[in-house]
Amino acid sequence: MKQIPMVDLVGQYQKIKPEVDAAIGEILTNASFINGPAVKQFQQNLEQYLGVKHVIPCANGTDALQVAMMALNLKPGDEVITTSFTFIATAEVIALLQLTPVLVDVLPDTFNIDPAAIERAITPKTKAIVPVHLFGQTADMDAIMDLAEKHNLYVIEDNAQAIGADHYGKDGHSRKAGTIGHIGCTSFFPSKNLGCYGDGGAIFTNDDELATQLRVVVNHGMVVRYYHDYVGVNSRLDSIQAAILDIKLKRLDEYNKAIGGNGW
Ligand SMILES: Cc1ncc(COP(=O)(O)O)c(C=O)c1O
Repeated sequence: MKQIPMVDLVGQYQKIKPEVDAAIGEILTNASFINGPAVKQFQQNLEQYLGVKHVIPCANGTDALQVAMMALNLKPGDEVITTSFTFIATAEVIALLQLTPVLVDVLPDTFNIDPAAIERAITPKTKAIVPVHLFGQTADMDAIMDLAEKHNLYVIEDNAQAIGADHYGKDGHSRKAGTIGHIGCTSFFPSKNLGCYGDGGAIFTNDDELATQLRVVVNHGMVVRYYHDYVGVNSRLDSIQAAILDIKLKRLDEYNKAIGGNGW
């Protein structure tokens, strides 16, 4: 009996092989491995696709979440409300930064975070909400953004499982998942709907000041070359991954429509 894989990355690669091989070959020929033109090109194309002002590429989805919380200058002891049903990374980075993860329940019909449970968990120490859009389905962002405004909280969307999903808001507008909160984070892990051939991630924001701070944090806290004003991290998307992602971005809607999300 032939086993049918849930994600067939080999079959997907066969369909785009000439383009991918040529793009990787060009980077090897130019040795533009880090911060090469392919990274800028992918960043701009993703900004356009998502309809967001700033995309900050980084090394993986976990880093994206960590950098987002660092850029918001959250302090040890601050409470961050997130869902009890997610991949460990969402809660892990909260704990890693010595913030307090506050896990709340999900809705039974979507498995996404329950806005009523968020409201019950808000305390004077709450600083941020991290909704996770699971299985390509967005959390109730209208209710979450209303709560954030009412209680003066940041919203960091964990969009690792919903890139390309549309959220239809109560204002009648549709926005891409990950571009509704103050910051959106995603993962380009190979099996994601937009996956590279290694590790990769990105952070999105429409806020110019936050974008500047996010770019500083991903680059060793560096504002002026070799002047490190903040404690940051080293989190880069490499050029080969960016070139692969740029090729797959053109097919993302097609991948998302297909059963399994990865080409069929
Ligand atoms: C919901 C969610 N958040 C965060 C991550 C972390 O992404 P990465 O593996 O790129 O660090 C994942 C990856 O599976 C995820 O599914």
